[in-house]
Amino acid sequence: MDAETVLARLAALRAQDAPTHGGRLLSYVYDSGRDDLDDLAAAAIRAMQPVNGLDPTAFRSVAVLERELLDFAREVFHAGPDVAGTATSGGTESCLLAVKTARDSWRQRGGTGRPRLVAPTTVHAAFRKAAALLDLELDLVPVDPATGRVAAGTLAARFAPDVALAVVSAPSYPFAALDPVAEVAAAAQTAGVDLHVDACIGGFALAFWPDEGAPPQPWDFAVPGVTSLSADLHKYGYAPKGISVLLQRGLDRQRRQWFATSSWPGYPVVNATLLGSKSAGPLAAAWAIAAVLGADGFDELTAAMARSTARIVEAARAIDGIAVVGSPTGPMVALAADEGDPARRVDPHLWADAMRAQGFVVQGQPASAQPDGSRLPATAHLTITPVTERVLDEFLAAMAAAADSVRGMPHLDGSVLAAGLLGGADPSALAALDADTAFGLLGAAGLLEPTALHAMAPVLALVEALPPPVVERLLVELLASALDR
Ligand SMILES: Cc1ncc(COP(=O)(O)O)c(C=O)c1O
Repeated sequence: MDAETVLARLAALRAQDAPTHGGRLLSYVYDSGRDDLDDLAAAAIRAMQPVNGLDPTAFRSVAVLERELLDFAREVFHAGPDVAGTATSGGTESCLLAVKTARDSWRQRGGTGRPRLVAPTTVHAAFRKAAALLDLELDLVPVDPATGRVAAGTLAARFAPDVALAVVSAPSYPFAALDPVAEVAAAAQTAGVDLHVDACIGGFALAFWPDEGAPPQPWDFAVPGVTSLSADLHKYGYAPKGISVLLQRGLDRQRRQWFATSSWPGYPVVNATLLGSKSAGPLAAAWAIAAVLGADGFDELTAAMARSTARIVEAARAIDGIAVVGSPTGPMVALAADEGDPARRVDPHLWADAMRAQGFVVQGQPASAQPDGSRLPATAHLTITPVTERVLDEFLAAMAAAADSVRGMPHLDGSVLAAGLLGGADPSALAALDADTAFGLLGAAGLLEPTALHAMAPVLALVEALPPPVVERLLVELLASALDR
């Protein structure tokens, strides 16, 4: 193929993607609405295209950009000179490295055996991944199902010498709940437990939030006892994907994040991050955007999001049958059904599918069980961005129309389909399914049809009804088989 044909194919493939710009996709993308920032990011990436971020001694530009970006983050999150930072490839990498650092400093303090990671059930899945990869026991603490918020005392009650790290969110992804950072930090400090604030999604928005709706308490390094904090520039820093920062209190503590080896026959490897060779493009793009925006630019974009969020919350509360979960802090909202009157309730998953028919893509989140047996509700998640304001009137009208179209319809029950799929088999055996059997089950559930993922409510119902290990195995097969079948 010649270059023109290749690029035409790329354009055709991209045209099938969810819309990244214009405020119609309310998850995954963070559209500032400013073309100049997109152009700036593209130019910065182009300038760094051949560079290898692996070695900042060979590519001095990388060290300068990273240092300046970290200085900006330190200022934004009230970090003093005792806070060291790293630019990473994204939220998950920042979270993994926070857990690795805490685990290794716990070991260095004399901890032996398998340490615990204590966190609310709403903590981002990246910490479940970190616990699995780094071999920590994940100790999940139930949140209040009505607010999505963990009680500081419940979390602190788990603190003991085997806890390597506690994590709280500012705010949490599922319910936009700001955990009680200061109270947990005070208890963590007393117990000698490290505390990570996961501000991956909210950090760069909360830091610039106007007074109304802003966190009433400090939640960053202004709080003694916070030992690390992650915040993603590829979310509310409006940079292309591939850039987050991890800040850690205590230079010696932070050095445990690093990996170095000089004893293999090749070049000495000294990395603060998980990757070896890496792109410096997203770093340069984030650096450029932060420099051009400055605090005033962030203030302006955040004010637009705050206005949109307030109007969306107000509109949702006014819609018969819909309930807003808790008090959203930052530019996200979770909507659940108002369970008062079955004839009036608006099921969030059916509503999310109905929103698609109205031209907006919103994410459904399954109901889930907490360790104490309580249940977190099925919800629809809205990620609000600066550009939301441009389509706000249309969005509010769509919210109401979608609710009207599904009001009174019951939440889909996936148990019949789930029982059919399980066929009386032991779920623990199904979690270890071979690829062919798993693929067969996906087909039987209708999930291989090209249109299956257009209506998410049935898929979410199945996720709710099947045991998590079985769903997880099937979802792995769904994504893997798209690449090899
Ligand atoms: C609170 C929180 N932490 C961590 C992550 C993981 O970030 P990433 O998808 O960049 O790996 C997210 C992503 O949405 C998040 O919301």
